[in-house]
Amino acid sequence: MLRTIFRTALLAGSLLNLATAQSTTATTTTTSAASTATACNNSPALCNRAYNNITQLGAHDSPFVRDASTSYSISGNQYYNTTVQLSAGVRLLTAQVHNTNTSAPATGEWHVCHSSCQLLDAGRLRTWLGEIKTWLDGNPSEVVTLLLVNSDSASAASLAAEFDAAAIVPYAYVPPSLSTAPTVWPTLASLIANNTRLLAFVADLPPAAAAAPYLMNEFTFIFENAYDNTSPANFSCAASRPTSYANNAGAALSAGLMPLQNHFLYATEAFGIEVPDTAALNNTNAPSGAVGNLGDAAKACSGAYGRAPTFLLVDFFNVGPAIATVDALNGVARAVGRSGAGTSAAQAPVSSSAGASASASASASGGGSARGWERMAWTGALIATVAAAIA
Ligand SMILES: *[C@@H]1O[C@H](CO)[C@@H](O)[C@H](O)[C@H]1NC(C)=O
Ligand SMILES: *[C@@H]1O[C@H](CO)[C@@H](O)[C@H](O)[C@H]1NC(C)=O
Ligand SMILES: *[C@@H]1O[C@H](CO)[C@@H](O)[C@H](O)[C@H]1NC(C)=O
Ligand SMILES: *[C@@H]1O[C@H](CO)[C@@H](O)[C@H](O)[C@H]1NC(C)=O
Ligand SMILES: *[C@@H]1O[C@H](CO)[C@@H](O)[C@H](O)[C@H]1NC(C)=O
Ligand SMILES: *[C@@H]1O[C@H](CO)[C@@H](O)[C@H](O)[C@H]1NC(C)=O
Repeated sequence: MLRTIFRTALLAGSLLNLATAQSTTATTTTTSAASTATACNNSPALCNRAYNNITQLGAHDSPFVRDASTSYSISGNQYYNTTVQLSAGVRLLTAQVHNTNTSAPATGEWHVCHSSCQLLDAGRLRTWLGEIKTWLDGNPSEVVTLLLVNSDSASAASLAAEFDAAAIVPYAYVPPSLSTAPTVWPTLASLIANNTRLLAFVADLPPAAAAAPYLMNEFTFIFENAYDNTSPANFSCAASRPTSYANNAGAALSAGLMPLQNHFLYATEAFGIEVPDTAALNNTNAPSGAVGNLGDAAKACSGAYGRAPTFLLVDFFNVGPAIATVDALNGVARAVGRSGAGTSAAQAPVSSSAGASASASASASGGGSARGWERMAWTGALIATVAAAIA
C-alpha cells in the first residue's frame, strides 16, 4: 500500500456547500419509560450480566459529526452528536485525540480531531468529556465505555488533566490491574452501585497507574478484527490487533481480552481517497440482508469466538438500525429509556462525489501505531491538497 503524505492548506470559508440538508428527521423511537429506573443500559435483563458479557453498540469517531455544526463534513462518521448517540443506546464512544501543535505539544491543546486538527476539529478533549459527564449525570443507571485513539501520543498525565478538567474522574472505573485483563468483570449493577460508570480505554498507552489508574491500555483488555474494509465481502472475524494475537482470536479470548468487532466500510474515490461508504450503509448496519450486513457479521463472529462480541463499532449508528443487532445479541426484546435519532439514512446529503473534488484522504495507516491514522476523508472547508506519494 502506498503511504501518502498530504500537506493541506485550509482556505478561508467553506466552499463545500453541502449544507442543503434534506429533512432531518430525528424522530423518537422507543420506549416505555416506566421501568427505566430498574434498567441497566436500557434493560433490566442486563443488570446482573458482567460488563464483558453483554454486547454494546459503539459509535465510531463519535465526535466527528456530519451535521449542520460541521457543514455536513464528509469527514463526519455520525449523523448525530455524542449526546444523541448515548440517548439512543450507544454505549461505546471512540475518538481520535490530537494535539493542536504537533511540533510543540507542550504549547498546544488536546483536541478531538479527525486525522488532523486542520481537517476536522471537534474541540477540546475536555469539552467532549464534559458532554459525556453531563450525560452520565443525567442517566445514573447507564455504563459508558470510551476508547481514545492516542494519535499524538499524549502521556497518561496529559490525558488525566483533560479528565480532571471535565470533572469526570469520579465516574471512571479503576481496574484491579492495568497490565492484565481480569478474568471476571463487574456486573453492570455493581458498576452502577459504585457509580463507576465510565470505562476508559486508550490505544496506545503504557500502563501508568501513578498518573491515572483508570486509563486502560486498549490492547491489554480488548482485541479487534480488521477495521480497514472497502468491500462488504472483506469483513472478517479474525483477530487483527493487537499484533501479538493477529489471526489468533482464540488465544486473545483465553487471555481474557474482549472482542471488539469493527463493522464499517470505506469507499475509494479518486486519488485513492477513502470516505465512509454511505451508499452501502443501509445494508452494512442492517440486522439482515445482503453480504456484509451487521446482523450476519455479528452472528459469524459470535460463532467464531464462541461468544458474542463485547463491542460492535459502526459508522452512522442510527442507520440499520444498528442497535437492532445489539439487542438481538443481548436477548433484549423491549429496551427502555431510549430516545433520539431515527433510523433515517441521510440526515444530510450523502453525495460523496460532491465533496470529492475538494477532499482528499490520508491512507497512511501503515504499520505500527494503533489506530492513529485511519483512512479518512479530508474536507471541511475547501482544502488545497498537495500530495506526495512515497512508495
Ligand atoms: C453470559 O451471559 C449469558 C446470558 O445471561 C449466560 O448464559 C452466560 O453464562 C454468561 N457467560 C459468562 C462467561 O458470564
Ligand atoms: C446534540 O444534538 C442535539 C440535536 O441536534 C442538540 O439539540 C444538542 O444541542 C447537541 N448537543 C451538543 C452537546 O452539541
Ligand atoms: C507550535 O509551537 C511552536 C513552538 O512554540 C511555535 O513556534 C508555533 O508557532 C506553534 N504553532 C502553532 C500552530 O501553534
Ligand atoms: C465497589 O466498591 C467497593 C468498596 O470500595 C469495592 O470493594 C468493590 O470492588 C467495588 N466494585 C466495583 C464493581 O468496582
Ligand atoms: C476484498 O473484497 C474484494 C472484492 O470482493 C476482493 O477483491 C479483495 O481481494 C478483498 N480483500 C481482502 C483483503 O480480502
Ligand atoms: C436507505 O433506506 C432508507 C429507508 O428505507 C431510504 O430512504 C434511503 O434512500 C436508503 N439509502 C440508501 C443509500 O440506499
